[in-house]
Amino acid sequence: MKDQNHHDISADDWDELNFPRSEENDFDAVVERAISRRGFLGGVLAFGSGATVMGSGLLSGTSAQAQQAATNRFPFTPIGIQTDFEVHVPEGYSYEVLAKWGDPLFSDGEGYDVAEGGALEGSDRVFGENTDGMETFSFQGRQLIAINHEYANRKINLAAAQEGTPAGPDDVRKLQNLQGVTVMEVAQDDDGWSVVVDSPFNRRIDHNTPMVITGPAAGHDLLKTDADPTGTKSLGTFNNCGSGKTPWGTYLTCEENFNGYFGSTQEAQDQKPNQLVDGYSRYGIGADGWGYDYHKHDARFDTSKNPNEPHRAGWIVEIDPTDASSTPVKHTGMGRFKHENAEVVLAPDGRVVAYMGDDERGEFLYKFVSNGVYVPGGSTEGLLDDGTLYAAVFNDDGTGEWKALTPETTGMASLAEVLIFARKAGSAVGATTMDRPEWISTNPIAVEAYCCLTNNRNRGVKPNAGGDETPVNGPNPRETNNYGQIVRWRPHDDDHASDTFDWDLYVMAGNPEVYNNIYGGSENITAGNMFNSPDGMGFDSTGLVWIQTDGNDSNEEEFAGMGNNQMLVGDPVTGEIARFLTGPKGSEVTGLAWSSDLRTMFVGIQHPGGSWPTGSGLPQSAVITVTRDDGGLVG
Ligand code: FEO
Ligand code: CA
Ligand code: CA
Repeated sequence: MKDQNHHDISADDWDELNFPRSEENDFDAVVERAISRRGFLGGVLAFGSGATVMGSGLLSGTSAQAQQAATNRFPFTPIGIQTDFEVHVPEGYSYEVLAKWGDPLFSDGEGYDVAEGGALEGSDRVFGENTDGMETFSFQGRQLIAINHEYANRKINLAAAQEGTPAGPDDVRKLQNLQGVTVMEVAQDDDGWSVVVDSPFNRRIDHNTPMVITGPAAGHDLLKTDADPTGTKSLGTFNNCGSGKTPWGTYLTCEENFNGYFGSTQEAQDQKPNQLVDGYSRYGIGADGWGYDYHKHDARFDTSKNPNEPHRAGWIVEIDPTDASSTPVKHTGMGRFKHENAEVVLAPDGRVVAYMGDDERGEFLYKFVSNGVYVPGGSTEGLLDDGTLYAAVFNDDGTGEWKALTPETTGMASLAEVLIFARKAGSAVGATTMDRPEWISTNPIAVEAYCCLTNNRNRGVKPNAGGDETPVNGPNPRETNNYGQIVRWRPHDDDHASDTFDWDLYVMAGNPEVYNNIYGGSENITAGNMFNSPDGMGFDSTGLVWIQTDGNDSNEEEFAGMGNNQMLVGDPVTGEIARFLTGPKGSEVTGLAWSSDLRTMFVGIQHPGGSWPTGSGLPQSAVITVTRDDGGLVG
């Protein structure tokens, strides 16, 4: 996500102005330790020393691509960078737009005009804005997609004269309606894929949809409000970023930057009891919010009136995509933080393991392990609530450990507080500060997990929001890291429920054309495949890992030669990485899923620039389908 218009300058720029970067780069020792671990899973990763030009980095784009095409598992010829306002896929593949912001999900949503700005009516009957994580489901022979709408662009969705400022409750409601989650049925015929308008499975879940809160923190005083004195019923799901899918066929939507929707109508809002001040500051909840101004027109979001309402956001939410009347469930057992995605996998004994990242500079990686086991067809109650939440510690020697977050290990008063303030719990056990964990994905043909660490310009520069120092460390080896990297770990005993693991870096993004040092990237980065800021990620059924980016697409200076944001595919065994798709300039590529027959790939394009995809003058976030022209498998 970017460009939420929450400040005149971005929060990142504000950080830089106030906390200038160190001039000193003292990380060679950490790099050397990373190099010494080459050999993990076939030894794909090798770095040049800080002073040596990396050989592979000097390949021209053309020769690198030719080499890849000749020897690798990728059934396509990699494409070059692009800087235009279109989508590009390799020769032999095609893409079509499946659903874009404002498209009707129901026939009574037809005629909704996204370019108009201002209309409330119909805003809850159309495909929402800024598509993000998605998952596909096959049910009764139908193809369903559940998909997130992370945020709404205030300046476009409100009348132009308002310049993005809601004028009243109707404006707020409209913004609330255009975010959340869509569930929709899609179908394919000779003309390609389309949304099945009025399907009984179609559904919009938004910022006001009733939800239940379950798990150890449900009913805790910190979750109670005047409207819900039970602390077990809330309204809406917020800033839905990445996704997840359970073995029992439900959708997980992940609440990320929920803090931006809350504000206070009283300046004294910051003067709360200590406990709340701690929680507010760690989670970035301030008096002004990020410009949505919900708090000025909807008291639920006014923290001076409802100080506990923010505690009811920041969770993993489970949705049954096969029942449009089902009530979504907020699972407190999985912890409260700025959730990116939730990668669910089963341990050998059937316990449910969910890997989750907290996408903020210097925050942590988490894992939930259920107490109970999943039995196909059996009850799944409690499997995402009754268990243990862990935070990761990465040692510089290539080993790691999951630290249980409990009252005993953290010194916190109760398990409910541990979960509500999971970040504080992670700090208490000394979890490793990370370079913004985005998506985590597990390899279906090997017991290993990968996590995109998108970038962190504060690495080595300033502490995280909890005051934890963020010196360079093993999996985060570069000070002022503008490129990002992908860390992977292999749990001991081939068991994702194991408390210990070995790790290495699958790739360090970088620019070998600009830098002859660690900022040039790892050996599997070449002039022909370079990118920055890995974010979305997913393994296909063959064990290839697809990587989506949300980075700097200026194509200038340290980002020269990287072009627009893109989707690449990597081979975990050889380390090779090839560019498959490029998005329109201005966009981030995020969200990836496959049709049941694996012959169509669904890909999300968020916040495009230009006039993509219609040419109307108004860019619209959208989901596209990607297929092979010969009808072959794409995943
Ligand atoms: Fe919504 Fe961290 O991306
Ligand atoms: Ca993301
Ligand atoms: Ca991102």
